[in-house]
Amino acid sequence: MVISTSINDQRQNTDDVSQEMQLLTRNLVLNLTKHATKLAPVVSVTPNRNYCFKPTQRLLWFPAFPLENTVNKFVNTTKPLLTDQEFAETQKASEAFVKGCGRELQGLLERAADNSSNWLAERWLKTAYLQYRDPVVVYSSPGMTFPHKIFCSDEEFTEYTAKVIFGMLKYKQSIDENKVPVVKMGDNELDNSQFYRVFGTCRIPRQGEDDLKFCPKSKHVVVICRNHFYKLPVYSKEGKILHPEVIRCQLLSIWNGEKAAGCPIGILTSDHRDKWAKSYGLLKAIGNNKCSLEVIQSSMFTVSLDDSVPVDHPETANEVVSEQLIHGGGSKQNSGNRWFDKTIQVIVNRNGVNGFCYEHSPAEGQPIALMDDFVVDTLNKEDSFYDGSATDNYDGYEKINIETNPVVKKMVEMSGKNIDELAQNLHLKVLHYKGFGKEFLKAQKLSPDSFCQMAMQYAFYKHYKTPAAQYESAHLRIYHQGRTETIRSCSNESVAFAKAMVEKSDDATRVKLLREAVQGHQKYAKMAMQGQGVDRHLLGLKLMALENNLEVPAFFKSPGFVKSSQFRMSTSQVASVNHAFMCYGPLVDNGYGCCYNPRKNDMFFAISSWKSNSETDSDKFHDSLKSALDDMKEVLSKAGEKPKAKL
Ligand code: COA
Repeated sequence: MVISTSINDQRQNTDDVSQEMQLLTRNLVLNLTKHATKLAPVVSVTPNRNYCFKPTQRLLWFPAFPLENTVNKFVNTTKPLLTDQEFAETQKASEAFVKGCGRELQGLLERAADNSSNWLAERWLKTAYLQYRDPVVVYSSPGMTFPHKIFCSDEEFTEYTAKVIFGMLKYKQSIDENKVPVVKMGDNELDNSQFYRVFGTCRIPRQGEDDLKFCPKSKHVVVICRNHFYKLPVYSKEGKILHPEVIRCQLLSIWNGEKAAGCPIGILTSDHRDKWAKSYGLLKAIGNNKCSLEVIQSSMFTVSLDDSVPVDHPETANEVVSEQLIHGGGSKQNSGNRWFDKTIQVIVNRNGVNGFCYEHSPAEGQPIALMDDFVVDTLNKEDSFYDGSATDNYDGYEKINIETNPVVKKMVEMSGKNIDELAQNLHLKVLHYKGFGKEFLKAQKLSPDSFCQMAMQYAFYKHYKTPAAQYESAHLRIYHQGRTETIRSCSNESVAFAKAMVEKSDDATRVKLLREAVQGHQKYAKMAMQGQGVDRHLLGLKLMALENNLEVPAFFKSPGFVKSSQFRMSTSQVASVNHAFMCYGPLVDNGYGCCYNPRKNDMFFAISSWKSNSETDSDKFHDSLKSALDDMKEVLSKAGEKPKAKL
């Protein structure tokens, strides 16, 4: 496992932040109440031998919060999901936990928290990602779209791709030069370490638990075209970024080169992790493959030049791009033209759909979405933007030869069947809602994010007449190496609001309940961003039991714990100013994934579900969500309330 645990961040005076990097601050400035807790010292660590940063961020340690507070909060979140009897059982189990074995686990957790600046970071990386055995494809790796393009020629296709690569390299340069602005939440800085982990990182399959390989000094990308792999150095010998025209010529040469598709070995990376670990061992043992695989793994990122897939109708372009980015469309389309272990795969299809697929373990969606915005912005720059880039003295691309044998070919065939089933089973539907956006909601003095969450709660209730446990990720970057906490969006207030909307209720009651539900969610979101949610603390207690060979308490089998952790709605806000959105698969069999991008005057919701599940249907949920948003606007408009001065 090679992710550096050193603090690779530098406080940066905003005065000397380049103009481009100002973009990165957008959406990150959060105004929260002051939060006082232990500060991680300004750690002076030995700089990573490969990559030198000045580690000067002042970040909070992640504490173990009081047990009773968390459990009380937890009990409250379970109420709308349980029968009276189940709730009574959950209350009893919770009391017993707080008075009994929970105390011992809390003591162990407090000790862990005293001995580390973030007791959760390493445990979360392993539990949520590296030990997770389902394929990264659909189950874990999201797609992040770029605005759709139309390429009239191969020249345009490769020119665009070259400019995207150039934009990515400029983004990396800004990161390497420590120009990522340090943003504050209240008085506290937000941890920037995730930005440093997205380039040059690759997941390595192992039985039981994967590794992460980190090569921050990498100077090449790997181009994948018709299942063939090519090493493309993107810096001159003097270390300058290559001019996009130089990159374009090489991409065109690759594109016009081998026309016959190669053995789709990349498809192996889409399989169950233990299966892939087994085929990886076999693949690596053949000929010179070990070196070839290392060239792929050590690249900054991969670039898939994809063969055209049909877009039947312009309106289905959003679904086609989601499919191509999440899984590649199956073995008959582009799933073999991938290396799903790479943290960033740039994907450009000849038909114009394009974006990233990103492997989730080293970072959340935010650095990826910010990179998306940054790169899209660079695409419209004047020619002078490329001044100073190199046009000579560079190494050209070379083919990476990967040998196979009959056993590996058989495994490729099996992995192909697996990805075909997975791709076939995933039902994606994107709602581009144009009725209103953040501006309308802010004028209504409502939190746009909380409003979207309540819209999803209501849409689910409207369709199923029962509430869904709903997961939303909140960042924990206020803490050293912080990742996420869960916002439990299903609440007594959200259900009261949804009921009022579907049952006969007057508009005044509806608008009152809507506001209470939105405000209740926003309150929970603020707590979660300070680490004071429920889920990570309870996970920590459970892990303490497992790590110390103690019995896992009955509390974790209580109806409240089980039902409230079955997140039928798995949601996340990933903001982008562009006509772009993030998309991913559902968390549970009978659930939905729903990643959304609320923009100023419109919103994207990327909905996913399993076709094999008879309870879910992305098309129907799309319709329910659209009409929920319409209904909510109507209720607010009818109430005709003038925006209040302050909440
Ligand atoms: N009245 C008027 N305006 C309000 C308001 C109110 N009651 N409440 C909030 N707003 C404003 C905010 O000030 C903000 O304004 P800005 O656009 O000028 O900055 C804007 O509305 C958006 O705020 P809000 O919608 O409340 O929340 P948010 O954008 O801060 O997002 C989270 C909230 C929880 C999504 C976010 O903090 C977070 O954690 N993001 C990370 C999620 C993540 O990890 N995603 C990746 C997963 S892979």
